[in-house]
Amino acid sequence: MTSSGDVHHLRAAGSSLVLDARGTGVPVVVHWGADLGGLDRHALEALADSQVPAVTASSPDVPVRATLLPLAADGWPGLPGLAGWRPTAPDDGAARRPAPRQVRTTSDGGTVAVLLADPAAGLEVAVRLTLHAQGVLEGTTTVTNRGTTPYALDRVVSTLPLPTRATEVLDLSGRWAGERRPQRAPLRDGLWERGTRHGRPGHDAPFATVAGTPGFGFRSGEVWGVHHAWSGDTSVRVERLASGHAVVGAGEMWGPGDVVVGPGETYTSPRTLAGWSAAGLDGLSERFHAWVRARPGRATRPRPVTLNTWEAVYFEHDLDRLRALADAAARVGVERFVLDDGWFRGRRDDRRGLGDWTVDEAVWPDGLHPLVQHVTGLGMEFGLWVEPEMVNADSDVARRHPEWVLRATPGREPLPWRYQQALDLAHPDAYAHVRDAVVALLDEYPITYLKWDQNRDVLDAPSRGQVLATRRLMDELRERFPALEIESCSSGGGKVDLDVLDRTDRVWASDTNDALERQAVQRWTGLLVPPELVGSHVGDARSHTTGRTHDLSLRLVTALFGHSGIEADLTRTAPEDLEAVTRWVRLVKELRPLVAAGTTVRADTADECWVHGLVGPGAQEAVYALVTRAASSAAVPPALLLPGLDPQDTYRVERVDLATPPLVVGDAPPPWWASGAVELPGAALAEVGLPLPPLAPEQGVLLRVTRSSGA
Ligand code: GLA
Repeated sequence: MTSSGDVHHLRAAGSSLVLDARGTGVPVVVHWGADLGGLDRHALEALADSQVPAVTASSPDVPVRATLLPLAADGWPGLPGLAGWRPTAPDDGAARRPAPRQVRTTSDGGTVAVLLADPAAGLEVAVRLTLHAQGVLEGTTTVTNRGTTPYALDRVVSTLPLPTRATEVLDLSGRWAGERRPQRAPLRDGLWERGTRHGRPGHDAPFATVAGTPGFGFRSGEVWGVHHAWSGDTSVRVERLASGHAVVGAGEMWGPGDVVVGPGETYTSPRTLAGWSAAGLDGLSERFHAWVRARPGRATRPRPVTLNTWEAVYFEHDLDRLRALADAAARVGVERFVLDDGWFRGRRDDRRGLGDWTVDEAVWPDGLHPLVQHVTGLGMEFGLWVEPEMVNADSDVARRHPEWVLRATPGREPLPWRYQQALDLAHPDAYAHVRDAVVALLDEYPITYLKWDQNRDVLDAPSRGQVLATRRLMDELRERFPALEIESCSSGGGKVDLDVLDRTDRVWASDTNDALERQAVQRWTGLLVPPELVGSHVGDARSHTTGRTHDLSLRLVTALFGHSGIEADLTRTAPEDLEAVTRWVRLVKELRPLVAAGTTVRADTADECWVHGLVGPGAQEAVYALVTRAASSAAVPPALLLPGLDPQDTYRVERVDLATPPLVVGDAPPPWWASGAVELPGAALAEVGLPLPPLAPEQGVLLRVTRSSGA
């Protein structure tokens, strides 16, 4: 344990953070990056001393620093890390411009806990930074109101400094069925703030905000990345001042007066998670994947191959048809059958029924029992779709309790969205109604899995209470039904964050099963979320969301790199395709330990052809996917590089044709391609690569790699 007056050093997995907590000022991170080794107190102090910046012309007479809580009182002219005021004491200038001083800072080697206080403002602020074993840094900020009047918070931002060599910023945006699309720009003076106000992260969530050295890629460059682990409104910002100081920070986003801390009460921010890597984005992903995989309470059993009924039958629920679908699913080797939307009272389409969580008597006169018994009799688990936070105006519950609709103000109905409104789960009776209905279902049926959807934004009402109540509801259900798994879905991938993954075992990354679109969604969802937690389904040949047609091979390759499943009407699938799907399901089962433990690698290729893979523990084996996104621009395409293997060892690379072989343009492919296998040292595979034939666009190739020496 080290304490106040010290320079604190956190170290883990090749990275370290040094915090100068000497004096009474707000502590300053003087290093966040590569591990500096076991520095003694003297060396740490020397380092901290050396990092004191110059006092520049036309500036405060003391050095200005990017502290853990940058504030105007300390000379910070950028956005403050803390802002608020006292609505019932509006002349309280101290509270509007807090100037906390350090009370104490302690460290146990893994966590530094900083306590700051501003008695004049009546505020206490605690900042905790934990460097987890995987090198993921977790930061939270707690504000306690020590005054006698309520304190309204405007903004609380966990802030970390960026070095001047981080000159480019990448973050994600997107839309429905096109989530997590990267955007990249030079870091300039000014504020790059991504605020999302959806009451959920949204399809356009920044997800990960990464600053890095010029040209950083998947395999190269030094990067500093931040994720705000929160399923609600979020602001992530990168700010560079003209002075050269740059910071990255994240916090919740509120409307005026949304968060008021009463006297003696406390607000604790969501976690900001951060990581550094000198090995590009793949290095960042490796840290985050390891951290997510180590989270307590996660399902560790092999991920069951899933069939979801949505794109197979939509709302056309019919027992015989669903039984036939279950038969077909069982025949190809499916292990979990998930009945999607359409099973509850009045739910013939998306215009009615949400909130009435009892089985529709007209469609299901004997309840779900005949289907559930059929599914479990075939040896599969049964899963069910729910949307607990929502209500249709056309539902019994909305008719009986219009006051349960979440609104900014009584009498003003928020705009409908998919004909639905948010149900105010912070209302104890509404919460109890939903909880009891879901508990009744889980009591009555052997349901092992809920696909938990949220199909609209909460736009015109405060949403924080909703996010917290949803967390609480998931906690209650998981406590009562410990074997229950939950998937986080939100009109596809509108709720993918590392907070919801504390309580869920899978995210539905997108509503698009178009394999090419899915490649993009998975590539960037995989920046933080390991593949076995990202649902990926083989859809129909003609995609329901894009209308584009893809060969089965591309669809199968794509759905192999995730929590694999099927979302198509197998009763109408051609026999030769069913055979290929059956072989694929066998392969999924064989490879899932590798998917669940593998290191994600992505080659830095041109966008017309992507190569990504999973390298197993100890680099004993690997699988790679090669996906042509467009026709090759060169007659002879660039060599195929397979990153991540042990350079010293020799590997056998084998092309696996999951269905029809990939379409090659021209007559004579390279000899290794024609023979289907080659054996080469890992160094050669990573540095020299393999020649490729010109492949037609939108082809997917699977390569299995096994170590052939030095085991
Ligand atoms: C959302 C989900 C889909 C499906 C439908 C059902 O859009 O993302 O996968 O469950 O709801 O209404």
